[in-house]
Amino acid sequence: MSRLEGHVSYITGAASGIGLVTAKRFAQEGAVVIGADLKYSNSWEEVAAISPASSFHELDVREEEPQQEAAEAAISQHGKIDSVMTAAGVAGGGPVHMLELEEWQRVIDINLTGTMLSVKVCLPSMIEQRKGSIITVASVEGLEGCEGGSCYNASKGGVVILTKNLACDYGRLGIRANAICPGFIDTPMFQTAIIGGMGEERADPIRFQHKLGRWGKPEEIAGTALFLASDDSSFVSGVALPVDGGYVAGHQYGMAEMMDLA
Ligand SMILES: NC(=O)c1ccc[n+]([C@@H]2O[C@H](COP(=O)([O-])OP(=O)(O)OC[C@H]3O[C@@H](n4cnc5c(N)ncnc54)[C@H](O)[C@@H]3O)[C@@H](O)[C@H]2O)c1
Repeated sequence: MSRLEGHVSYITGAASGIGLVTAKRFAQEGAVVIGADLKYSNSWEEVAAISPASSFHELDVREEEPQQEAAEAAISQHGKIDSVMTAAGVAGGGPVHMLELEEWQRVIDINLTGTMLSVKVCLPSMIEQRKGSIITVASVEGLEGCEGGSCYNASKGGVVILTKNLACDYGRLGIRANAICPGFIDTPMFQTAIIGGMGEERADPIRFQHKLGRWGKPEEIAGTALFLASDDSSFVSGVALPVDGGYVAGHQYGMAEMMDLA
């Protein structure tokens, strides 16, 4: 399959989890991937083996200049950037009365400001081409509140609205912008923050909030990102798309068990 033949994609958070698996999937579909993350990971070699023209940049998404350099290098080597996926992010938060300002700023800076900067450096090429797909990675926690969310949920809610704004600003130039809102996806972040932090048993109510009764897989986010990067989604813009096994579909009160549906 090569649904992204000739496509150039800038993907942040590309050393781990959702970003890494998406980079691999995009490479398998024929794309050149410009990966970025804080530190190089040997897992990137799998992407490079599939797509040797791809490259990896060690950078911090909170900084504009290195991202600008990565984007400029991609344009001088490959002529353009067709899509950007902003998967770099961190977990964090806690109830507000216990929240240090430093923690609030760290999470907002990486998840929200970092997203804006990653998109910003790709826009000139998209504007020039009058075509492009911006794929931000928000969260179901950017669509609703939850216990202890605070700065994480605020950062992801910000990503959702930023994405809708991008769709408004750049749509007439042929640029689409959509936010993927994953449920809980089994990645290193999830293993540390959820399973490591709470233990599997205490995390079960969260698992069952996904109406499919299981955690998501990064491949399921990568498949959605592929749809949004490709022309299959050519009339989809401004959407905050839950990819969450039904997490935000509605509340449950044990009726499914009573009706013998669980
Ligand atoms: N896993 C989940 O359950 C889940 C659910 C909803 C949303 N998300 C979001 O998906 C995205 C990817 O998460 P993941 O689960 O794959 O996590 P992950 O920890 O496996 O990967 C995140 C990557 O982002 C990188 N990163 C962090 N700060 C950075 C910075 N300042 N500059 C550059 N790179 C940085 C990390 O080094 C890491 O490689 C995040 O934005 C996360 O908030 C994850």
